[in-house]
Amino acid sequence: MIERDSSELDPILKKDDAEERVFEDDLRPGTFTDYIGQEQIKKGLLLAITAAKQRSEPIDHVLLYGPPGLGKTTLAHVIANEMGGTIKITSGPAIERPADLASLLTNLEEGDILFIDEIHRLPRTVEEILYPAMEDYVIDIMLGKGPSAQSLRLDIPKFTLIGATTRFGALSGPMRDRFGLVHRLEYYSPDQIESIIARSANILDIKIDKPALEKMSFRTRLTPRIANRLIKRVRDFAQVHGDGVVTSDILDGTLKLLDIDEYGLENSDRRVLRTIIDHYGGGPVGVSAIAAATGEERLTIEDVYEPYLIQIGFLQRSHRGRIATDKAYGHLGIEKTDKE
Ligand SMILES: Nc1ncnc2c1ncn2[C@@H]1O[C@H](COP(=O)(O)OP(=O)(O)OP(=O)(O)O)[C@@H](O)[C@H]1O
Ligand SMILES: [Mg+2]
Repeated sequence: MIERDSSELDPILKKDDAEERVFEDDLRPGTFTDYIGQEQIKKGLLLAITAAKQRSEPIDHVLLYGPPGLGKTTLAHVIANEMGGTIKITSGPAIERPADLASLLTNLEEGDILFIDEIHRLPRTVEEILYPAMEDYVIDIMLGKGPSAQSLRLDIPKFTLIGATTRFGALSGPMRDRFGLVHRLEYYSPDQIESIIARSANILDIKIDKPALEKMSFRTRLTPRIANRLIKRVRDFAQVHGDGVVTSDILDGTLKLLDIDEYGLENSDRRVLRTIIDHYGGGPVGVSAIAAATGEERLTIEDVYEPYLIQIGFLQRSHRGRIATDKAYGHLGIEKTDKE
């Protein structure tokens, strides 16, 4: 078994750190016009926003879900900008006690947006405070303890909750039901990723020629965050090994260095596939077994690796576990042997 922690994750997939977040903030589009793709979602949100503005009301609560790096946090900022409201940002694990949430809610102002990232990780006791807040803009606080405890109902300002999660399935039913607008973010098309790369390159003053731009869009797992990280890596490579302009050769050199293949997969993706093929005859095999054999966390496999491998048809999910497809065998150059 290979022991690894997340700091050893491949460079493009690695989790956020402080430096990355500053960088992401610089590139984060602030309006629907700058926010590329996800057209259906934008249409739905724009309608809701226009109608809410006409009624001088906050928009309905919004739930955004989908794989990491597709633009959930960004979209929450865009909604706040378009509504002209202030956004307060927190996350499920950061709100430990009902009192933490109560104080957040009572400090909101009318029309504010409360963004809760990783909303599936809210403790149950906290969730229960949130339900009446979302439905009727009230919270019930308990005063005192034991038999003499009294419940006090407080009005809170009319606000909009935006929840984001990578795991829709982990959200409780009552929580899901209380969102009026529920949107699943999809992987982007190569064309859209190309526009995102061009936009970021422009902001960062990086020159990428057209052939490199086109090729690069297919190496990003169709994910804006990865596209933006790859831009930084090619910029470094172009500076050291070229004349600063990102050409096809510069891109190839960078991809080789990072061990990114023509599907945009990194070592760790391929390790997941190889494990299924080499250790489990191609599957079906449960995620826990894959996790144990690769030394990755189960959640990382489910949230980070699997969605894209399924999207490109390398992996299938069945009720008995994960199965590597013929396409995956082909890509890894492994001959498929018939199982008895
Ligand atoms: N539609 C888009 N157009 C342009 N850039 C985008 C778009 N969506 C995301 N990005 C860029 O990708 C980066 C990552 O997006 P974001 O942080 O919103 O992802 P996320 O879905 O919240 O990920 P996580 O699940 O990890 O929180 C942002 O910094 C932003 O610059
Ligand atoms: Mg986010």
